[in-house]
Amino acid sequence: MDSVEIRLMSADDLAKAERASDTTFLAADRRDRRVSEPEPEPRSEKAAKQWIDRMRYFLTVDPEGCWIAVAGDEVVGFAISQNRDRLWFLATYGVLPDRQGHGIGRQLMDAVLAHADDRAGLFSSTVHPGATRRYRVAGFTLHPQMRMVGTVDRSTIPAVTGLHDGRAEDFDWMDRLDRNLRGAGHGPDHHYLLGLNRLVVSRAGGGSGYAYIDDRGRAVLLAAADPEIGQQLLWEALASSRGSTLVNCITTANHWAIDVGLAARLDIGQEGYLAIRGMPEPAPYLASGHFL
Ligand SMILES: CC(C)(COP(=O)(O)OP(=O)(O)OC[C@H]1O[C@@H](n2cnc3c(N)ncnc32)[C@H](O)[C@@H]1OP(=O)(O)O)[C@@H](O)C(=O)NCCC(=O)NCCS
Repeated sequence: MDSVEIRLMSADDLAKAERASDTTFLAADRRDRRVSEPEPEPRSEKAAKQWIDRMRYFLTVDPEGCWIAVAGDEVVGFAISQNRDRLWFLATYGVLPDRQGHGIGRQLMDAVLAHADDRAGLFSSTVHPGATRRYRVAGFTLHPQMRMVGTVDRSTIPAVTGLHDGRAEDFDWMDRLDRNLRGAGHGPDHHYLLGLNRLVVSRAGGGSGYAYIDDRGRAVLLAAADPEIGQQLLWEALASSRGSTLVNCITTANHWAIDVGLAARLDIGQEGYLAIRGMPEPAPYLASGHFL
């Protein structure tokens, strides 16, 4: 095998890094699939473009957190992380299946953890034994994540009042709420998320909660000052869902979300961990897998 170089990613690497990411996660999803789940599919062209757009955005905000492993002219691994104030997060991390188990993942992780310095850390982890081993050794606590899946029974949806469409003027109080819940605002990530999702906010008490809801009605990031506001926001997302839906990244401190999902007749599943270092488990909060 060619020797492997660990180096910072540049925009020129994005297309090859995306291909490596698709191959890596397709193999991992196939390996970890439960019999009740559908056969994993390769990433669609649209999802591949979204991956590249998101990584390009991370490169513009915090390029020094974005690392790849290269052999010849092939990208064989990637670890994309970001610092926001005193918080570090890992957006994605993988090594091509036929290159795993040779220390490439460890070197990539060393690079992004050096970038984190002594910041608090937060990310959503798969169940991969090599990954979870490395995270725990690096001082992360692993919080098992639940997810709610199924089709919402529309007869259960309550009348939700007091929510509004959000806009950029809301970002200041949203960042304050973020700081209370996770130690740092999402800062520029709010602009990015607003470009791709519907933003719903509760402005009660100067701003008490928000949710980004994607075009399939899934809450991709939700933060609230108390569980009741969190539940209202989640009901708003479920009301806009079509067909089978998903509520992801629910840790044990967020059973308020489980209660909403059960009331909507969704099923509880279990999926990976929220890895946390140097901060309490965020609640009421549903992390975004990509922006944490
Ligand atoms: C997780 C991943 C990035 C690790 O990369 P890698 O190059 O295989 O990792 P390394 O060879 O550097 O091994 C890292 C550590 O995990 C251990 N490890 C690796 N594969 C393992 C396995 N299958 N079972 C148990 N431990 C394993 C290694 O022994 C090493 O630990 P050590 O340094 O204490 O000895 C890679 O396996 C991967 O891409 N997995 C699929 C995608 C995924 O789950 N990504 C994580 C997203 S949060």
